[in-house]
Amino acid sequence: MEKKNLDWSNLGFQYIQTDKRYVSNYKNGAWDEGCLASDANIVLNECAGVFQYAQTVFEGLKAYTTEDGKIVTFRPDLNAERMIDSAKRLEMPAFPKERFIDAVTQTVKANAAWVPPFGSGATLYIRPYMFGSSPVIGVSPAEEYQFRILTTPVGPYFKGGAKPITIKVSDFDRAAPHGTGHIKAGLNYAMSLHAIVTAHEEGYAENMYLDAATRTKVEETGGANFIFVTKDGKVVTPKSSSILPSITRRSLLYVAKEYLGLETEEREVTLEEVPEFTECGLCGTAAVVSPVGKIVDHGKEICFASGMEEMGPVTKKLYDTLTGIQMGRIEAPEGWIHVIE
Ligand code: PLP
Ligand code: COI
Repeated sequence: MEKKNLDWSNLGFQYIQTDKRYVSNYKNGAWDEGCLASDANIVLNECAGVFQYAQTVFEGLKAYTTEDGKIVTFRPDLNAERMIDSAKRLEMPAFPKERFIDAVTQTVKANAAWVPPFGSGATLYIRPYMFGSSPVIGVSPAEEYQFRILTTPVGPYFKGGAKPITIKVSDFDRAAPHGTGHIKAGLNYAMSLHAIVTAHEEGYAENMYLDAATRTKVEETGGANFIFVTKDGKVVTPKSSSILPSITRRSLLYVAKEYLGLETEEREVTLEEVPEFTECGLCGTAAVVSPVGKIVDHGKEICFASGMEEMGPVTKKLYDTLTGIQMGRIEAPEGWIHVIE
């Protein structure tokens, strides 16, 4: 199979239309068998649930080319499970786990020419999503749904790749206690758009959101969970019921403990204690592990010892080990790598 002629090493995190996408429709209480489609456009009724009441959830994972030329994905079973949790919370039907994995496999296979080559620094981003497709006007769940998967080749999420970024403590809240912060619903991202545009206008790469109830505890950013490193090398991640349970973060905690022999802790993290950490990073499928060099809290700067030039040493080890597992350079724990072809 011949690869597409793209400048793989200079891709940003942007949509590039690929050849095939997966589509399955839910009607009369059942999903149809699904198929791969060529048309990237969707025609929907003007009153579809997704348009009126934002009934939509999504996922994000990547396909990688390994050193020995295989195409693989990373823990797609966890994306399938999280999408089921997201769907339930928005009163949508679950797309079954085995079918999700099969649909990811089919879609990536059909777009193999778009999977960036090993060593290019790029990957194929896979975006499964589901939305209410039948008309609703009273506030209620739709009766019909569409599940789709699109793929697009991507480079680093943050400009500058592995260079540390500067973020700000946001004045906006992302998620309410007992709300939807723990699921991957489009509505969480819609309400973060004003905050991210504001942050970008002020020169920051992202927002640090605090817990909405007390505004004292660290939650996450708009698209990634936090990891911190203590002076004595312990990896700490914020625990909260209103953040997305990041698959990258869960994997990194395992990697820290089992591969690197580091102590790990998942607990509440207050904004007040953040200056005591030596390293800070953002972790997620898109962000991978992106180092944070500085956090600005209303004019007060929190500068991490790792500085603004390079990833801190622990963050780097985590990054190298995780990407080594994803790219097949380091042996993966059982079940983490799903081989496509
Ligand atoms: N938090 C938010 C708000 C996200 O959008 C994402 C991205 O999916 C993450 C965290 C990281 O999750 P994961 O590691 O599963 O991609
Ligand atoms: C992902 O990492 O997959 C996400 O969905 C985050 C988004 C900001 C691109």
